[in-house]
Amino acid sequence: MKPKILVTRSVFPEVIEHLSQHFEIDYNDQDVALPADELAARLSDKVGAITMLSDRIDEAALRSAPNLKAVCNVAVGHNNFDLAAISAAGVMATNTPGVLNDTTADTAWALLLASGRRIVGADKWVRDGQWQGWKFHDDWRGHDIHHATLGILGMGRIGQAVARRAAGFEMRVIYHNRSRLAPEQEQACQATLVSKEELLRESDFLVLLLPYSPATHHVIGAAEIAQMKPTAHLINIARGGIVDDGALIEALQNKTIAGAGLDVFENEPALDARYFALDNVVLTPHIGSSTRATRLAMAMLAADNLIAALAGRRPPNLVNPEVAGG
Ligand code: GLV
Ligand code: GLV
Repeated sequence: MKPKILVTRSVFPEVIEHLSQHFEIDYNDQDVALPADELAARLSDKVGAITMLSDRIDEAALRSAPNLKAVCNVAVGHNNFDLAAISAAGVMATNTPGVLNDTTADTAWALLLASGRRIVGADKWVRDGQWQGWKFHDDWRGHDIHHATLGILGMGRIGQAVARRAAGFEMRVIYHNRSRLAPEQEQACQATLVSKEELLRESDFLVLLLPYSPATHHVIGAAEIAQMKPTAHLINIARGGIVDDGALIEALQNKTIAGAGLDVFENEPALDARYFALDNVVLTPHIGSSTRATRLAMAMLAADNLIAALAGRRPPNLVNPEVAGG
C-alpha cells in the first residue's frame, strides 16, 4: 500500500504523475480552496499534504490528522501555516524558495514600470477612445525610472534579484534589512544599506520584500508613507498586511505619494473597493511567481519535499528544523 496524501488544489498533471509514483493521492482537482472543515476531514487519514497559501494549517486542522508527517507548501511564504502548532504536532513543514526569485523580481519590475510610467491608465484611455488628434499628453506624464533611486525594504534573495536588475536603468540602489548583506552581495547589487527613515525619505521607487509576520504587520502605515516623497511610488510584491491598506488608499487619494503597484492586499481576494476608484494604482491578483515554468518548478519542489519527508530524509526546504527528522 502506498502512503496516502492530499493535494489540496489543482496543480500540473506532471506533478500528480510524479507524486503518484510514490503515493496514493486524494486530489482536489478544482482551482478552488477546500473549506476548512473539508480540509480537516480529508487530512484525517493522510500522512502528507501538498498545500497552497489558501490552506490554513493550524491546530484545528492538525487535531483531526494524527498520522500527518509533512505539509509542503507550493509557495515561498508560509504565513498560512501555524508553525508553532505544526511543530508541536511533530509535523514537518516545507516551502519553495529559490525557484521563484527571478520571476518574482521580474513582476516587481513590471509593477514598478507600469506605476512609474502610468501604463495601465494610459492603455485604458486609448481603449476608451480618448486619444483624438496629436498632442503632448501632459495628463500621462510619469516618473523617470532611469537614474532614479530604488529603495528595497527586505533584502533577501528576491530583493537582491530586484536590485541587480536596476543596473540597466543606471539607478541608485539603497536598501534596509535586518542585517547587512555580505560585501560580495552588496557588490553584485550595487546597493547601499541605509536606515529605514532614509529609505523612506530617499526612494523614488520603494519595493517591499519582507515576509509577513506579526513583526512586519503594517510596517508601512500612515506615518511611514508621510515620510515618502510626494513623487514616490510604492511597490508591494511581498504580502498583504505589511502595508496598512487604509492608510495607503488615503495617501493615494490625497496624492501624498504619486502611485503604487500592488500584487498583494489585506484580506485578498476581498480587497478594499476604494482601490478600484483610484487611477494612480496598478492592481494585480497575486501573480508574483505566475509563469508556467516557475509555477511548475515550485510544485515539483513541493512534491520533492514531500517525497523526501515521507521517505525519512530531511526535506530540502524544511522550515521547522526543530521537528524530528530535521
Ligand atoms: C507567493 O506569494 C509565495 O509565497 O510563493
Ligand atoms: C525569498 O526567497 C527571499 O529570501 O526573499
